[in-house]
Amino acid sequence: MSGEIRRAFAPGRVNLIGEHTDYTGGLCLPMAIGLGTTASFERLLGSPEVLVRSRLYREPVRVGLDLSATTEAIRAIEPPWGRYAAAVVATLGPKEGGVVEVESDLPVGAGLSSSASFELALSLALGFEGDALSLAKSCQAAEQLAFGSPTGILDQASSALGRAGFAMRLDCHDLSVRYVPLPEEVDIVVVDSGETRAVAETAYEERRLQCLAAEEAIGPLRQAAPGDEKSIKDPLIARRARHVVSENARVDAFAEALAGGDLAEAGRLMDESHASLAGDYEVSTPTLDELASHLRRFEGVFGARLTGAGFGGCVVALTRSGALSTRLARNDHWVVGPAAGARLL
Ligand code: GLA
Repeated sequence: MSGEIRRAFAPGRVNLIGEHTDYTGGLCLPMAIGLGTTASFERLLGSPEVLVRSRLYREPVRVGLDLSATTEAIRAIEPPWGRYAAAVVATLGPKEGGVVEVESDLPVGAGLSSSASFELALSLALGFEGDALSLAKSCQAAEQLAFGSPTGILDQASSALGRAGFAMRLDCHDLSVRYVPLPEEVDIVVVDSGETRAVAETAYEERRLQCLAAEEAIGPLRQAAPGDEKSIKDPLIARRARHVVSENARVDAFAEALAGGDLAEAGRLMDESHASLAGDYEVSTPTLDELASHLRRFEGVFGARLTGAGFGGCVVALTRSGALSTRLARNDHWVVGPAAGARLL
């Protein structure tokens, strides 16, 4: 049959704390946001392909259903955003073709998970069946297939599992979630540094390998206690491990601070997370460092840190309501609230 349209929305996310911990089964504390991607799929009887059109790009992408596509073929698709579409189709294996219209109000490449949001919206529109966690896993597999970066599940899980009013403590070891209410008197402000980055082009994979090297020396980083990394001989690997181990501890301290209404402490932990990402993990840039320090100088800002993979993208600040929003230029920041996860519309 044709003419029937299935629409889905999937949000982007901002990670409040717990960065570069997901791929070692660590802790993160993200929230889904109101910005995101909407995908509308119209089935066309007998169509042998999924044609995906995005308002953001001129050329549509065509993905054949018989996708005997090898990984190499998917990674060679031009324009590059088509690789996500092809990877989702390859992962889902939909039986029917048709046309997908995609719209998004998320900035691309800014660290708010525009790609995860695209993958989830497209998967749901194409008829994904399963619970939210399976959706996240399926889209994580698609992401890895599309670009070959060994990314963790933070982005897809945040988009799938979001709940209005709540951030979530995500345990990437057993994939359990504890929802953490955000106090009403705060704003979460995401500020774009203007530096764009693609995870595949960064040292993401190198960091993953360094974590593996650390785990060979001291066992799972998730189980390590602060200080355990001191027995790692290579000083660089020891610093990478120190970031991960201390960041896991900061996630729980942050959740506790929020629950106790200690916003100054929550902000301090965000600043400390940034310092650890910049110093020990070396995924910050001078622009991100400057932006975070600049934001911290405003009255009512509790803390600020880079969010996402780093190497550019956005800084997230925890502030008293209204403390930053009126003081920043219109176009380079978003005041985001914790929003519901991916869903059919
Ligand atoms: C990217 C990846 C996530 C996570 C973050 C860093 O967003 O997609 O899996 O590793 O970087 O926390």
